[in-house]
Amino acid sequence: MEYYPKIEQFVIEAFTKSHNPKDIKHFERTVYWLKQLRPEADEALCIAAFAHDTERAFRESSSHPAAGSSPKGFRDEEFLTYHQNKGAEIIADFLKQQNAPQEMTDRVQMLISKHEVGGNEDQNLLKDADSVSYFENQMNHFLTEKVAAVGKEKVREKFQWMFDRITSGKAKDLARPMFEDAITKLG
Ligand SMILES: [Fe+2]
Repeated sequence: MEYYPKIEQFVIEAFTKSHNPKDIKHFERTVYWLKQLRPEADEALCIAAFAHDTERAFRESSSHPAAGSSPKGFRDEEFLTYHQNKGAEIIADFLKQQNAPQEMTDRVQMLISKHEVGGNEDQNLLKDADSVSYFENQMNHFLTEKVAAVGKEKVREKFQWMFDRITSGKAKDLARPMFEDAITKLG
């Protein structure tokens, strides 16, 4: 794990400077759940898990308004594609600057570029860990600030989608009680 601590520092610094320092907990726990789902996860997977949402720290609010504000809610395809690709690019550039092996850099980029929608087995694993960590750590923010900003229906759709997109049975079992709790609290 030579590059993981460097990524951790880079992401923590970026989010500490941005509006969302609370997100760091979500990243730590995405790594935690990733390892619960696959104890032998390689460095690239751990890096991708910690750094998957890095785009958010660099978002230019004028060109890309807050997630969920689009009429299509949190599942706006154009927005998700931008979020995934931009984050993947930022982290790949950082790894290149650190002279990380090309193979690992490409793998991290591949993983982050599909962390919302999944694709292959490893992209699905990252997506599943993100969902479990989302219900564990982001739920209250969505029940309060996000409901106030975009309304209950869009938040309900987001909760449903974050649960439905989970591929593995084990991750679904982990997320289910938290998901049900979120729906109950939403009322
Ligand atoms: Fe996330």
